Amino acid sequence: MAVDEKLLTLFSYYRDAEIRGATLLLKLMQRLDDPDAQVKLSKHLEEETHHAWLWTKRITDLGGVPVRVDDGYQRRIGREIGIPKTYEQLFALTVVVEERAQHRYLAHAASPTVDPETRALLHEVTKDEKWHIAWMENKLREMAGSEGQARVDDLLARYREVDRRVFRELEAKEREAFGFSLSETPAS
Ligand SMILES: [Fe+2]
Ligand SMILES: [Fe+2]
Repeated sequence: MAVDEKLLTLFSYYRDAEIRGATLLLKLMQRLDDPDAQVKLSKHLEEETHHAWLWTKRITDLGGVPVRVDDGYQRRIGREIGIPKTYEQLFALTVVVEERAQHRYLAHAASPTVDPETRALLHEVTKDEKWHIAWMENKLREMAGSEGQARVDDLLARYREVDRRVFRELEAKEREAFGFSLSETPAS
């Protein structure tokens, strides 16, 4: 069976997003002095690295190797918003990129062309993303306190706006480069 290069590229993008998400969590773990957050970050990090492995395994099961991703979603969003400097910025960025991952995975899983193994994998990673988003937004709001809620709302709204713009650009670039967008499921 010929290796489907489009699928390998798509899964490599997913894998890259998981690895970069894990990198953000490691940064937070090294800085944050909050025992409850340390426990949750440890579990969260374990799951993101597991997701990266699951995508890697899917790629190798299909007879391929991961494709290098130089210009993926996280790198683009990082260029737009700059290096997050505060805990609030790190948490808010993680919430927004997790929301994007969840959205992409759900859209892909809903596609009629997705194969059963990939669909099962998409469901497995999506169920973890749900609690990732929930605990991080709760912790972000807890840390900000009652007087900080409007600030958090503004930060999330600003990052979501950047996310939508970056994602639209990425889709356009992908259509140009591959003839399909990674937010659509390539016919396999
Ligand atoms: Fe993940
Ligand atoms: Fe996640």
